[in-house]
Amino acid sequence: MHALTAASLALALSGSVSAHGYLKYVDHKGVSYGLWEPFSDPYYSPLPLRYDRRIADNGPVTGMQSKNITCNNGGNDPTNVGIIEVAAGDVLKLVWDQWGSSHSGPVMTYMAKCTPNCASFKGDTGSPWFKIDQFGYDATKNPPWGSDYLARQGAWWKVTVPPTIAAGEYLLRHEILGLHVASIPNEAQFYPSCVHLRVTGGGSDNPSGVALPGAYDPQDTGGILIALYQINNGEKIYTAPGGPVWSKAAAPLQTAAAPSAQAYSATSFAPSVRGAATSTTTSRAATSTTTTTSRAATTLATTATTRSTTGTTTRTTTPVTTSRTTTGSTGGTVGAWGQCGGIGWTGGTVCVSGYTCKVLNDYYSQCQ
Ligand SMILES: *[C@@H]1O[C@H](CO)[C@@H](O)[C@H](O)[C@H]1NC(C)=O
Repeated sequence: MHALTAASLALALSGSVSAHGYLKYVDHKGVSYGLWEPFSDPYYSPLPLRYDRRIADNGPVTGMQSKNITCNNGGNDPTNVGIIEVAAGDVLKLVWDQWGSSHSGPVMTYMAKCTPNCASFKGDTGSPWFKIDQFGYDATKNPPWGSDYLARQGAWWKVTVPPTIAAGEYLLRHEILGLHVASIPNEAQFYPSCVHLRVTGGGSDNPSGVALPGAYDPQDTGGILIALYQINNGEKIYTAPGGPVWSKAAAPLQTAAAPSAQAYSATSFAPSVRGAATSTTTSRAATSTTTTTSRAATTLATTATTRSTTGTTTRTTTPVTTSRTTTGSTGGTVGAWGQCGGIGWTGGTVCVSGYTCKVLNDYYSQCQ
């Protein structure tokens, strides 16, 4: 047992650089919503606006009975997360940073109604999770494992927001389960992410489903405590954990045809700058379908001030918003540690004396 564990650890570690991963974007109708970047986002001030809950790193959750399984290691903090406006029946493209094909296993996507809203709902008690899509092992597909299929088609996955669910706020929990060392108890590797959605339209269905933690059992020999080769050889039938897909979910979008690798490239980006007093207004900037004014993130700070004086809203201008408005609207010199560039940034790009504008990632350059 000891030797086995050491061997599995070595195997897990040898794959850790190339094979681990995290969900990086949600693409909705051509707009790319950035998700938490665990290796750079924590170091920014102010923190960038992301549309999912923070994750600690790109590694797996191995404590499937702990609350880390709900929304990954990272604390499951529901606050200060942007929310993506979608309609029931819309297709979402879920894009990973990368995926290593050695981590074979199912791809599963759940939703849970946020009660009363996603800014406070944690989803780690009760049974709120209903499965909207899954691809475990299907010998008629090439490749037959969901995660290998995801990797093959370019490290992304498409799901449909169920057409008949009631309008409201939901968590979308997309997950890969890596089974490459799962024959050892508690070595199965779960990679979940929780994205915030506001769903409009739809019908009156309010499904519930399973508990997370709760639904995943380390002793589940049908879906978790399994040896890949037994499934691959046809010695065993694989049944993904977490129960069946909800009966009224839309048909799966990953078809039987062998996919060809197609790298994702975003066409436009949702705001990645915090500055709105509420995440609601910011997220609307990206879709601009339900709003009456154009609310780009950088102009929102300006309009927020105006609105609070007209009394049409209770929104107040935060100090952060004010300072960003100044640099953004003048296009002038950016102070120490201020943003000076990045996709969608229209503010100043020249740093005060003694500081230089350094690219931290696609979305954020900072005066350092
Ligand atoms: C949960 O995740 C955190 C990292 O965010 C880690 O420190 C902790 O040990 C994990 N807990 C369990 C029970 O796995």
